Amino acid sequence: MDFAGVIINWYQRHKRDLPWRHTTDPYIIWLSEIIMQQTRVEQGTPYFNRFAARYPTVSDFASASEDEILKLWQGLGYYSRGRNMHHTAQMVMESHGGYFPSNYNSLLKLKGIGEYTAAAISSFSSNEARAVVDGNVFRLLSRYFGLDIPINSGQGKKVFTELANNLIDKNQAGTYNQAVMEFGSLVCRPKNPDCPECPLQSGCEAYRTNRIKELPVKIKS
Ligand code: ADE
Repeated sequence: MDFAGVIINWYQRHKRDLPWRHTTDPYIIWLSEIIMQQTRVEQGTPYFNRFAARYPTVSDFASASEDEILKLWQGLGYYSRGRNMHHTAQMVMESHGGYFPSNYNSLLKLKGIGEYTAAAISSFSSNEARAVVDGNVFRLLSRYFGLDIPINSGQGKKVFTELANNLIDKNQAGTYNQAVMEFGSLVCRPKNPDCPECPLQSGCEAYRTNRIKELPVKIKS
């Protein structure tokens, strides 16, 4: 089995049942991805559930008051996320006829949506083959391939993004992206990764050369 096959196989057996994994609605996926940014799953999930219940469509979200959204946001931090979301929902109503975009290039044009979020939404909602590149992916790829290019350098971002896009399973792009995120948070963890139980251990360069603790490399900024 290739890299993607191993990860997807592991994911099918170990994935957590998270509420946003049951939908292909780009609006609902957007809600989940913005809420989950820099937030632990345990903390963010109740917020996601409240937002999705209160605003089931982008039209509901756009017509809410900013005050109400920020009240519901209370406790999550980074309030600019909530404000940006309101603005984005209104843009979707005005310039996309109320249809939340599901393709990568249209998503990138929306406020608060960068490459990571555009890749997540487009792959989860329409299987577009854009690899997510987040902290989990940098860590997993730098270790597995033994790459010590700094992940926060321009060159590093380019190299890891290219590599990630070559590894993605084009027929199951969404599942692959969920799988690498889950694998990075449950197995290839920042501290105390579960190497003894890792299904990629036999091919892992960092494991072979005893450099798990040294990877990924970050330059001081
Ligand atoms: N954190 C950000 N996006 C996530 C996702 N789709 N699944 C689990 N954790 C996440």
